[in-house]
Amino acid sequence: MSDTHSSVTPISQAICTTPWQDTPGARRRARFTADWFGVRLVARNNRSIEQLFAQEQARVVVVAQEQPVLYHAESPDTALFFHPGMALQRIRAMENGQVDRLIRVAGIKPGNHVIDATLGMGMDTMVIAHAVGESGRVTAMESSWWLVKLFEFAQGELNPKFPEVQSLLQRVQVIQGNHEQLLCAQAPCSAHVVVFDPMFRRPPDRESSMDTARHWTMAGALSERAVACAKRVAARSVVFKERPSSGEFERFGLLPDKPRARFAYGVWHQHGSRQMDG
Ligand SMILES: C[S@@+](CC[C@H](N)C(=O)[O-])C[C@H]1O[C@@H](n2cnc3c(N)ncnc32)[C@H](O)[C@@H]1O
Repeated sequence: MSDTHSSVTPISQAICTTPWQDTPGARRRARFTADWFGVRLVARNNRSIEQLFAQEQARVVVVAQEQPVLYHAESPDTALFFHPGMALQRIRAMENGQVDRLIRVAGIKPGNHVIDATLGMGMDTMVIAHAVGESGRVTAMESSWWLVKLFEFAQGELNPKFPEVQSLLQRVQVIQGNHEQLLCAQAPCSAHVVVFDPMFRRPPDRESSMDTARHWTMAGALSERAVACAKRVAARSVVFKERPSSGEFERFGLLPDKPRARFAYGVWHQHGSRQMDG
């Protein structure tokens, strides 16, 4: 077992177990899930999540539901799991003819290659995958090994729990790592659009599912080098989401699209939209 992939909590401090109902089927799934995450399998033995943390000296508990449910020792009452919730609402609205705000400001079109540099729970990634269509593709970058694993598990065909988004998930290639290094290694003009949605500066976003994921995420501010590399990689635009009052739009010389809203987008447009490489 290697800890080299784990950006937030090492996998050596993680365990996997069954839900309360410890049936033979649940035990088989727990064995599969433990192997898939590469973590230690422990018997549930009617123990609560808090008891598991204390008795197994664990920092992370993975409960092997159909979609794995993650608990962090810092917030044992908060479960983290893949669910397309908000993305599905946005996709249904698009199917009913509405234009999604992110897709509009970024100028994303069918057939495009879009880099979502901050996967998080994958909500924007799924909306973008819908917008680029079957002929397009999405590359999603994420520093948190745990969030990448949750998303990749949902992409797997073993448990197609969300048939509406299964085909969208297949359009996404996820890369685990810091987007600064990953973007700087991409060829010039190798994508149409790059999207940045880092964790908000202050105050935290209590209305967002990402707030419950804060123990799993990288909280740092967007770096100027990441932006410089994104501008080299994106043939059409680079999009940045933040709170309009955060000071971040001023730092990057951008105008927020909605200066009084809960969050805003700022966009760097490439002059005359350059040609994409390959
Ligand atoms: C606000 S969330 C993104 C939410 C996402 N747009 C969604 O729809 O679910 C920000 C994510 O970016 C990740 N992140 C922040 N800085 C990063 C970096 N330098 N490289 C890669 N991922 C980063 C965090 O770990 C976090 O998961």
